[in-house]
Amino acid sequence: MKTITINLGLHSYDIAIGEGLLPGIGSACKAMGLGSNVAVVTNPTVSTLYSDVVISALKDAGFSPFVIEIQDGEEYKNCSTLQRIYDCLIDAGMDRRSFIIALGGGVVGDIAGFASATFLRGIPFIQIPTTLLAQVDSSVGGKTGIDHPSGKNLIGAFYQPHLVFSDTGTLKTLEKRHYLAGLAEVVKYGVVLDADLFLLLEAEVEGLLKRDSDLLARIIARCCEIKAAVVEEDEKESGLRAVLNYGHTLGHAFETISGYQGMVHGEAVASGMVQAAVLSASEGYCTETDVQRITLLLQSLKLPVTAPQATFDELVNAISKDKKNRSGSIKFVCNQGIGSHSFHYFTPARLAEVCCSGR
Ligand code: NAD
Ligand code: GLY
Repeated sequence: MKTITINLGLHSYDIAIGEGLLPGIGSACKAMGLGSNVAVVTNPTVSTLYSDVVISALKDAGFSPFVIEIQDGEEYKNCSTLQRIYDCLIDAGMDRRSFIIALGGGVVGDIAGFASATFLRGIPFIQIPTTLLAQVDSSVGGKTGIDHPSGKNLIGAFYQPHLVFSDTGTLKTLEKRHYLAGLAEVVKYGVVLDADLFLLLEAEVEGLLKRDSDLLARIIARCCEIKAAVVEEDEKESGLRAVLNYGHTLGHAFETISGYQGMVHGEAVASGMVQAAVLSASEGYCTETDVQRITLLLQSLKLPVTAPQATFDELVNAISKDKKNRSGSIKFVCNQGIGSHSFHYFTPARLAEVCCSGR
């Protein structure tokens, strides 16, 4: 098992990474001195696979766990699901020493984290991420929240977990499409923050496609180290943390245009990263060769590299809704070569033009 500590003063916590960790969750919770009532928030897909082991481990360690199942899918990361979670917490008599465990991917982690941040003005919570995306990104750093009909993640809070417990063995049961989508976020760290990671990914495409467990544990740990360093420097995204949005400004627009049905998040990010690289090259921040390397790596990981079919106006409209839009200008992450980044401001029209330029 590898442990990475994220240093945030009183809100510091460990990220434990390794294969076969789940049976150890009870003793890990015991070591933190948490109260006995624990709600395990999960969904039916993940519950069938992993609830039993988590519940037994918690009972063996003396806790009184119960399961709250929410429906599976981004469309349920909303106010009515949150209300149902609160209802269950109240019915179970949860108090301020009780805690919540999020067992699942980014959807479960975000909503369970937000319930923890707000119930009784905040109770402890633990992330057990079970998708690659959640293990390398969403479970770390304390962004929690739900969607609003007018946009993704519009309601939320920064609220750090007490522990992130990543059992890499859970990735074996993940559907191929979701596994590959998680790889897009891994590539992101390489492109804008770590040239050595990018080289490793280029060299290990076969192992990644085969889900080689040692390789995955190494890569997940590296991504968590990178994310921990970014969050330690800028917990609430007033500067550096925005680098993690590389590929996301256009990716979110592509998701909006596809009505959240054509593309899953990681696929949209992959395609958004290629457009960001094209723009970076046209502004002189990277070379055409860098663009080709990024495109080729994503293609070999079976990820989409072209912008979805959309008109210029549709793109401008979707891009303009970005949370980072300030008076018609959007703070955008460019890659500086491979392994570094810089921030620049572009209009939605300039960004849409890149997407329509034929790649
Ligand atoms: P997800 O949570 O929808 O999981 C994808 C699918 O995999 C679901 O059907 C789920 O039931 C299933 N699944 C999960 N673990 C499994 C396993 N081990 N075996 C088999 N099936 C499994 O999607 P995701 O990609 O994990 O997360 C996407 C969400 O994360 C979005 O809502 C996005 O906004 C959010 N996100 C948050 C942050 C953050 O910093 N908080 C960062 C990135 C993304
Ligand atoms: N996933 C982006 C962030 O955590 O800031």
